[in-house]
Amino acid sequence: MQSAIEIISAAVEHALGAPALLRPCADPQFGDYQANGVMAIAKQTKQNPRALAEKIATQLQLADVCEPPTVAGAGFINFKLRREFVAAQVTDAARDPRHGVPSASKLKIVVIDFSSPNVAKPMHVGHIRSTILGDCLARVLKFLGHRVVTDNHIGDWGTQFGMLIIGWKKHRDDAALQRDAITELERLYKFVNNQCELHPALREDVKAELVKLQQGDAENHAIWQQIIDLSKHEFDRTYARLGVSFDHTFGESFYNPMLAGVVADLRAHDIAIESDDAICIFVEGSKAPLIIQKADGAFLYGTTDLATLKYRLDKWHPDEIVYVTDARQQLHFKQVFAAAAKWLPKVPDLRHVWFGSILGEDGKPLKTRSGENVKLGELLDEAEERALAVVTEKNPDLPEQIRNTIARVVGIGAVKYADLSQNRTTDYVFSWAKMLAMNGNTAPYMQYAYVRVQSIFRKAGVATLDGPIALEHPTELDLAKHILRFTETLQAVADDDKPNWLTAYLYDLAGKFSAFYDNCPVIQSAEPTRSSRLQLCRLTADIMKRGLNLLGIETIEQM
Ligand code: ARG
Repeated sequence: MQSAIEIISAAVEHALGAPALLRPCADPQFGDYQANGVMAIAKQTKQNPRALAEKIATQLQLADVCEPPTVAGAGFINFKLRREFVAAQVTDAARDPRHGVPSASKLKIVVIDFSSPNVAKPMHVGHIRSTILGDCLARVLKFLGHRVVTDNHIGDWGTQFGMLIIGWKKHRDDAALQRDAITELERLYKFVNNQCELHPALREDVKAELVKLQQGDAENHAIWQQIIDLSKHEFDRTYARLGVSFDHTFGESFYNPMLAGVVADLRAHDIAIESDDAICIFVEGSKAPLIIQKADGAFLYGTTDLATLKYRLDKWHPDEIVYVTDARQQLHFKQVFAAAAKWLPKVPDLRHVWFGSILGEDGKPLKTRSGENVKLGELLDEAEERALAVVTEKNPDLPEQIRNTIARVVGIGAVKYADLSQNRTTDYVFSWAKMLAMNGNTAPYMQYAYVRVQSIFRKAGVATLDGPIALEHPTELDLAKHILRFTETLQAVADDDKPNWLTAYLYDLAGKFSAFYDNCPVIQSAEPTRSSRLQLCRLTADIMKRGLNLLGIETIEQM
């Protein structure tokens, strides 16, 4: 099914000889879409833009698709879709398991590097944004038909292992380790770190353990492996709760054997040079160089990232690589990308998808009352508890097991939705009351909207639905046009790496559905209107469910 955007764009492009630059109209009064491409061409060819727009508008043969186009402002062409066209398109969408969303004509291979927590440390709320965002982007790109490779680049190597190994050997509490491995590992790290502050001589021992690990000492290697296994096991529990999975978890350590070769190659090509005893890459746009080897021979975070990049190119030949981390790593990735451009013959589109902080109600980065980082696991527990209270208040008579299921789906969904509905580049204030509200742009509101639409079918008791969808009432037409915008919304999410386009779309969808349902009797209508409207309901429900699923949020049939 060719979308309105595709048909109109192609026609304008044909007449203009340049891209149409079609956008949705900001004000629906003027139409549904607006072509912005005329002005640039008029300027280039020294023509009057309005006159050119008028000329192009009369040449377009779009009578099946829209009303006669109109020219506005400096030379925009406005298009208002015809009711019959919208009805035919929405009827097709209702018969399509993909709700009218075509599969990408140009397939891309995209590697997404996200979540990437550090071992022996609990995942904190900062990792939640990476995990939720990265997972959503992966889902959307896959649905659009691209080939997606997800890789969890866990921090499983580094100087912290010197402390951890001493802690493990001398101070380990096995019972605590069994109960909650990451908390115990964190305690060991902090304990040894404190000891080092008190007795600086201990630092030598820490260093010695680290060197032994780096040189492949069997005992230390085995301890390191156990620490990783325990951490991964805990991470997996969190991922299972979030419904997130990865194709690969290579981790930083995987690239260790490649680092010396990477540095040698960069030096051989004069891309890296010695400066202040360290090996550095100077790149444009940043005063500080990217350091890839310290004076003592140690490799760094950036060295690993360059090795990782090379490995990914050789293995998957991606068109794009997306890195999802917080805003503080912007300089790092800027340097890595610039270094890669100097080093490798052909680099794909490298994107750092960064995000702001989650703030507490006091406007400062979210912490527990005692000033610690909020742990992701505890946050999810609280989300489920609070959701259970909301569900129980609304539906005290539901069996406990069902209430628990709803609480899980709503609680986890609320945390995810609160995150994804923000423009990722801004900080946002974490508020339980807001994210669990039944009104507003929240997961519970959307999940409930879905339940309500579904219940219409239960009441209608219909099995099969067919016949064309007719759009009689203005709210019906409005809803149908919005339904047809699902495709362009997903495209925008993929283009800008911004899931908040999708949450905003779904919220509007729920609003437009309510307006339709308030104005148009469905079950009480006579045929064929009844079937037509029921199909519109079903398509709305399907898109709500699909949209939430692409956000990584589950739906339920009753709430
Ligand atoms: N482990 C890092 C952290 O927690 C994130 C890694 C991001 N990915 C990368 N390729 N550098 O900050």
